[in-house]
Amino acid sequence: MSLDQPTGRQPDHPVASQFPARWSPRAFTDRSLAESEVMSLLEAARWAPSASNHQPWRLVWARRGEAAFDAIHSSLTGNNLIWAGKAAVLMVVASQDSVTNRAGEEVANRTAAFDTGAAWMSLALQARTMGLAAHAMGGFDNARLASEVGLPAGHTLHCVVAVGEQGSAEALPDDLRAREKPSGRKPLDEIARHGHF
Ligand SMILES: Cc1cc2nc3c(=O)[nH]c(=O)nc-3n(C[C@H](O)[C@H](O)[C@H](O)COP(=O)(O)O)c2cc1C
Repeated sequence: MSLDQPTGRQPDHPVASQFPARWSPRAFTDRSLAESEVMSLLEAARWAPSASNHQPWRLVWARRGEAAFDAIHSSLTGNNLIWAGKAAVLMVVASQDSVTNRAGEEVANRTAAFDTGAAWMSLALQARTMGLAAHAMGGFDNARLASEVGLPAGHTLHCVVAVGEQGSAEALPDDLRAREKPSGRKPLDEIARHGHF
């Protein structure tokens, strides 16, 4: 995928080009990823901010052709099963549910999901910077995925991310090919207000 690929997205206000340039395609080329590329993606996630720097995100990854990839893939549901198997890498994004407070007690980390979302977005933007596409999927069988990856107790699964080099939409089935384009967004005044809701 060329970094200069036009998306047709028109921001209403000036914004760094990486934001509208990132989107979630479903078509991937056959190119596999070197381990060093995977490490760069994980490194980006690692530097995300989190409450009290607890860094609750936990990731499990596997490359296409590995048994662990097939195990993660088998947990996907719906259309995800059709297209995500062509990705170079599948990453499971989870978080640890609790933290140890200053009194030494194990308490719920109420920002774990929020923090882990920041880590996923860091990874997605890093992928884009590397000329790769990252596509998050919430469509998976929770119990099956937890079993396949050996999710420890006290952890929550959030999504599976397909990463790879964007391929031609021609390879997709008709219904998915029709949807293979960057989406729009709600107007800013619908999601943000000055002063109060
Ligand atoms: C947490 C999460 C779950 C998602 N689940 C799926 C999914 O199961 N299947 C899918 O094809 N896309 C999934 N998506 C992708 C969204 O549909 C996509 O991000 C959204 O439509 C905005 O489009 P864009 O990422 O191309 O800008 C998911 C995205 C997120 C962040």
